[in-house]
Amino acid sequence: MARKIDIFDTTLRDGEQSPGASMDAQEKLVITRELLRLGVDVIEAGFPVSSPGDFKSVQDIAKLCGDKCVVCGLTRAVENDIDVCADALKVAERPRIHTGLGVSPQHLKYKFRGMTLDEAIDRGVMAVKRARKYVEDVEFYAEDAGRAPYEDLAKMIEAVIKAGATVVNIPDTTGYSVPWEFGQRINYLMEHVDGIEDVTVSVHCHNDLGMATALSLAGVMNGATQVECTINGLGERAGNTAMEEVVMAIKLHGDDLDAYTTIDPKEFTRASKLVSGISGVSVQPNKAIVGANAFVHSSGIHQDGVIKNRSTYEIIAPEDVGAAGSKIVLTARSGHHALRQRLEELGYSDLTDERFEKIYAAFLEMADRKNQVYDEDLHSLMSEQDRNKNAIYKLDAVQISCGQPLIPTATVTMTDAYGRTHTVSEYGVGPIDAMYNAVNKIVQEENELIEYTVQSVTRGVDAIGEVTMRIMAPNGDVFTGRGSDGDVTVSSTKAYVNALNRMHAAQMQAKNREKDKRGRTIPEHI
Ligand code: KIV
Ligand code: ZN
Repeated sequence: MARKIDIFDTTLRDGEQSPGASMDAQEKLVITRELLRLGVDVIEAGFPVSSPGDFKSVQDIAKLCGDKCVVCGLTRAVENDIDVCADALKVAERPRIHTGLGVSPQHLKYKFRGMTLDEAIDRGVMAVKRARKYVEDVEFYAEDAGRAPYEDLAKMIEAVIKAGATVVNIPDTTGYSVPWEFGQRINYLMEHVDGIEDVTVSVHCHNDLGMATALSLAGVMNGATQVECTINGLGERAGNTAMEEVVMAIKLHGDDLDAYTTIDPKEFTRASKLVSGISGVSVQPNKAIVGANAFVHSSGIHQDGVIKNRSTYEIIAPEDVGAAGSKIVLTARSGHHALRQRLEELGYSDLTDERFEKIYAAFLEMADRKNQVYDEDLHSLMSEQDRNKNAIYKLDAVQISCGQPLIPTATVTMTDAYGRTHTVSEYGVGPIDAMYNAVNKIVQEENELIEYTVQSVTRGVDAIGEVTMRIMAPNGDVFTGRGSDGDVTVSSTKAYVNALNRMHAAQMQAKNREKDKRGRTIPEHI
């Protein structure tokens, strides 16, 4: 009897820890809907103690999920973290608290300033017991398990199982491991830890050596029945195991692994685009499963083979992962009903009439410009609408002239943080520089532009251009802005204004946090 492997998605928690990938509450709900369509077993919704915003977001996600999946909140092995997490999860139908602490010599010596293994175990046991007072489902993570001596790790895992953990997570936090050794590590635990057969063993691998997927599979081969992963492999530093990779590997090699998942792979392409659109972290073209080139055959020999039979060079049919392209096309003649229905099918339900009318107007503008509106365009349009909902700075108009031998000049009209409207013209070394200078003159928020990328949403000369801009605040925090439009200079201006709005919102939140009556503090980075 094949083993069911639970897919634990942490896009909204570890994924959000990617530099500059922070998502707002609405965006997290859009991603949650997509995760539900994929059929994930567990959603790690956030780290409730980290901010009132994260607390509320975990609640909203839990309400949206109902009984469709387990909703998990992260904590350190700290009493207040656990209490706050339990509070946030009160509304969840299937709550799980994910608590833990480091076990490796590096973590004990430096992060916990010389804590002994026994002290760490006591703290882990305390955390599990406290979490079990609130919920029946408690997952324990032994942070940096990939670098811990086997005996130390086994001792900690055995103690937390005795204390009531229902899931034990063995993370390779630093992405240090190699698959054959990581597999051996899981196997050692399976053979040496009393009670391990009664709990779920989970693996949570990072991609610092490009092996996160292989590590997770090695874990599954040796007894793990839960894999923690993210869409597009988003995550801290080099990222986490990519859900699309590990699920497809299990699908193709399920017989060898004696394992299967219940994920719907047809959602992968859509999920990937959605997450990259919202997080602003682009997917490399040669990324497995969801990269733009994942199913493109360019050499003559390969094309010849594929024409004769696709199986010569394709191990997965593009349509199996939803990569065959959208078949449904809307046009300017599509009415309200057709648009609403398509948006609902794409996961944008619960739109009020007032909001829908705004979206419909934007849709008509888009359809007039580009004739055919694909699902990808609709996702882009919806992200654009969501981005501007709580904006402080509003872009009213932009006009950019450039060319040879013109001096690139931008005229920008914007509403500032005090509701005043300004029109400013500036020049620059190129059109984007001119726009950047003009917006800066109005907004006057110090920052450094550290990344600028432009990508087309679909193919064709009339495609929508999506721009991602990352800016760095004077304190080193990075903010990502996105903007989409048929004109990339307009997309660029929208992206910059969006990044400025996010920077402004974060600065306001930081101020509010100081005043937060609950006295919660921002935890150190996990
Ligand atoms: O990488 C890691 O160890 C983590 C834990 C918090 C599970 O993200
Ligand atoms: Zn992690």
